[in-house]
Amino acid sequence: MSVRTSSFSKAELEQMSASVPFWFHSNDLGEGVVTPGVKSAAQLEKEVASFHLPDMTGKTVLDINAWDGFYSFEAERRGARRVVALDKMMWAMDLGKWNRYWLECKESGKPPSAFQDTPFWDPSSLPGKLGFDTAHLAMDSRVDNIVDDFMQMDTSTLGQFDVVFFLGSLYHMRNPVEAMLRVSSVTKGMAIIETEAVAFPGFEDRAVCEFFPSDELNGDSSNWWAPNEKALVGMCHAAGFREVDVMVGSSPLLTTFSIARGRSVARKVFGKLGLGSRLDYAESRVLRYRAVVHASK
Ligand SMILES: C[S@@+](CC[C@H](N)C(=O)[O-])C[C@H]1O[C@@H](n2cnc3c(N)ncnc32)[C@H](O)[C@@H]1O
Repeated sequence: MSVRTSSFSKAELEQMSASVPFWFHSNDLGEGVVTPGVKSAAQLEKEVASFHLPDMTGKTVLDINAWDGFYSFEAERRGARRVVALDKMMWAMDLGKWNRYWLECKESGKPPSAFQDTPFWDPSSLPGKLGFDTAHLAMDSRVDNIVDDFMQMDTSTLGQFDVVFFLGSLYHMRNPVEAMLRVSSVTKGMAIIETEAVAFPGFEDRAVCEFFPSDELNGDSSNWWAPNEKALVGMCHAAGFREVDVMVGSSPLLTTFSIARGRSVARKVFGKLGLGSRLDYAESRVLRYRAVVHASK
């Protein structure tokens, strides 16, 4: 693996990495200095492979909800002509304080408040953008950034891009169909959508979404909806994408295999207790996974 070079010394880069209180993405700053991150370098490498990125050479790229910018920098590294990283929600959060608050909520069993309703949300000074800005400086990057809420802004001001990343975002949207219409409006070529998804064995032919009224999904009350594969593909078509290729989906075989062990245990237990009718419930267990689709105009 080649080592990214930087105009900063290794000691300077180490100091820059340590100056950021919370990294979501593990970013390679150069000279062998890799930041920590909720998403490790190994996980990010696996994710990028699952996206099946097209050739980025000379392309224009919009990375919606970019956070620490790992995928924006990856698009630049792969030869994109222009890359725009857009975000606001996490860039406005004081993430160190938020993290402590989130852990307290978890301990006390209280669902955390919405980001904007806490005292840690500060859109005037953007404390959560420090990671992106630090990586950008360290890498001497030309990635542009726009601070705005994708769901509130006038998307016509963005123009249209050859490739649009909508990664780790759809399940955070209160209105996923509206979100997909917006994604479609800024896409000239292909949108790559990666999202939390569900599979309901036996319901593969129905377009179904699971709704999370509170923090049921990963203890995070900013998660609202997880589509199954048919719903995700359907939303892309409803938003005006002509062609949708499922890069990571839920094969019925995988779903059945993944839940088979749980199902056989349930069958034994319910059988012994004479609660046969509960089998329906046991058999409707869901499989959660991260889906990836390419939606093209
Ligand atoms: C899970 S992170 C994904 C970051 C990055 N795209 C990735 O895949 O690693 C969700 C991103 O969506 C943005 N976002 C926008 N609206 C949001 C909302 N209502 N709730 C949570 N996150 C939201 C956050 O700022 C954050 O950057």
